[in-house]
Amino acid sequence: MGANPDQNEWRPNPRVEHIELARWADVVAVAPATANMLGQAANGLAGDLLATLLLATKAPILWAPAMNAAMWEHPAVQANFERLKSFGHKMIEPSMGMLACGEEGAGKLADIEDIADAIRAVGSERLPSLTGKKVLVTAGPTREDLDPVRLLTNRSTGEMGIEIARALRDAGAEVHLVVGGDLAAPYGIETARVRTAEAMMAACSALWPGMDGCIAAAAVADQRPQEIALEKVKKGDGPENLVLVRTQDILLNLGMQKRVGQKGQWLVGFAAESEHHLENASAKLAKKKLDAVFVNDISTGKAFGHQDNTLTPVIAEGPQAPLGPLPKGQLAQALVVWWAEWLGSKYRASDEH
Ligand code: CTP
Repeated sequence: MGANPDQNEWRPNPRVEHIELARWADVVAVAPATANMLGQAANGLAGDLLATLLLATKAPILWAPAMNAAMWEHPAVQANFERLKSFGHKMIEPSMGMLACGEEGAGKLADIEDIADAIRAVGSERLPSLTGKKVLVTAGPTREDLDPVRLLTNRSTGEMGIEIARALRDAGAEVHLVVGGDLAAPYGIETARVRTAEAMMAACSALWPGMDGCIAAAAVADQRPQEIALEKVKKGDGPENLVLVRTQDILLNLGMQKRVGQKGQWLVGFAAESEHHLENASAKLAKKKLDAVFVNDISTGKAFGHQDNTLTPVIAEGPQAPLGPLPKGQLAQALVVWWAEWLGSKYRASDEH
């Protein structure tokens, strides 16, 4: 061991390199994966270091193939691909586009962001299993137009909601994300992009009957302008009034339609509060028929666009121990772990009755 040992850094061992690598990796991702490598691995061949490593590792394996379109479509390659899937290997399929050979078609390496996200999903075995659960997640700001150039919105980026969607996906849930704002949609998540509170409401209402639960992290505008001017509004001389009307409360609506009983739906909200955090959160819990509210203390100026954040779960029994401060990705995972434990104990309690 050297003077500055780093547990996460792989150091080559010339004697049994493939075994060391195979043990060291948390996930093995082959990107770009060639037709030859798919063929070797599908048939248990160990012709080179990578093929040997793929046989020796116990880590999850992810393939991101890239090749000429005709090669990709060839039945032999497709059969190898299916065979690897039957071994439990994960796949991120090639996309359509211009290929290195100058042809256009299916065979282009998937987006690097998507591959990175898929590696994360494959490597997240610490999370509880939510396989088979269908979860609606709302995220991001809504935007309410005043005229073709001006709008009302808020400082939410949508990052927390998107990280929650990722953490639920990584736990095996089927996630449906309804999102406002500009952040990229995460890999493997059915995403509906919306602009206004009304559009978010319509998307959520359509999805809700088929869901097991919902985590509403969106910063939905509570008001919109009464009129949307079709042309740019010119400035006047005197005081100018903007008339606002209330938007619908999405969470409240979902709460009113919530199925209860054995196969009941669960509903989780957020409360961004700058004062009387826990009292306000408890009031929201009751009013919107929620199972839990995660309170975000925005008085510290940390919530919007900052990395580390703290969330306090509030349930009918009262406030629970805070989660964090953590970067949003880890905080989202902590939230999912906490929530899955709560759900588990709720179901155990209802089974006993
Ligand atoms: N929410 C929603 N639809 C709205 C407003 C809020 O679904 N029109 C959801 C948010 O996604 C969040 C929760 O309701 O999960 C709480 O939102 P928040 O704005 O903090 O509270 P409000 O209930 O709007 O109350 P107030 O503005 O008085 O704080």
